[in-house]
Amino acid sequence: MLDVVKEVLISEEELKQRVAELGKQISEDYRGEDVVLVCVLKGAVMFFSDLARHITGNVTLDFISCSSYGSSTVSSGVVRILKDLDRPVEGKNVVVVEDIVDTGTTLHYLLKNLKSRNAKSVRLAALLNKPDRRKVDVHVDYQGFVIPDYFVVGYGLDYDEKYRQLPYVGVLKEEVYQ
Ligand code: XMP
Ligand code: MG
Repeated sequence: MLDVVKEVLISEEELKQRVAELGKQISEDYRGEDVVLVCVLKGAVMFFSDLARHITGNVTLDFISCSSYGSSTVSSGVVRILKDLDRPVEGKNVVVVEDIVDTGTTLHYLLKNLKSRNAKSVRLAALLNKPDRRKVDVHVDYQGFVIPDYFVVGYGLDYDEKYRQLPYVGVLKEEVYQ
């Protein structure tokens, strides 16, 4: 384990199993329908690529990147699209794939934005959910794990762009960011 990680919150094995379950559920829900899987860069990248491999049927992949201004462990409430989807989603079933729902600010904005493009449907798959920190209501259709209010890294999640490559979700030691 990396020395900045206090504990492993979700192991590689647990992630693998839960992601497979979510993929199966999504495949069943969209049987006979086309789906656009939207990866919210960069945090969702590991979850997205593992999840996509468990979805059967007609799937296309697209990528979007947003930023919320502020310090790296607290989001500020202002959201901006840095890289938009390559293709229009009008008339399509969209599943947004995100790493974590924290205050809900990013997803609230992003889901509203995608719905306004006249998608046929827009749902959310989030690996992690931190309900204790919620400021804006967000409905999570496909949820990996509910976690306490810890700052976590790994499996795509970063602190200052670091630790995304860890194969597990770990709790960052407080002294690293305080
Ligand atoms: P909001 O507050 O808009 O935040 O729901 C979503 C974004 O905040 C980041 N975030 C985290 N990143 N460990 C991280 O590495 C965390 O514990 C954490 N909590 C929030 C993340 O980028 C997410 O997309
Ligand atoms: Mg981040």
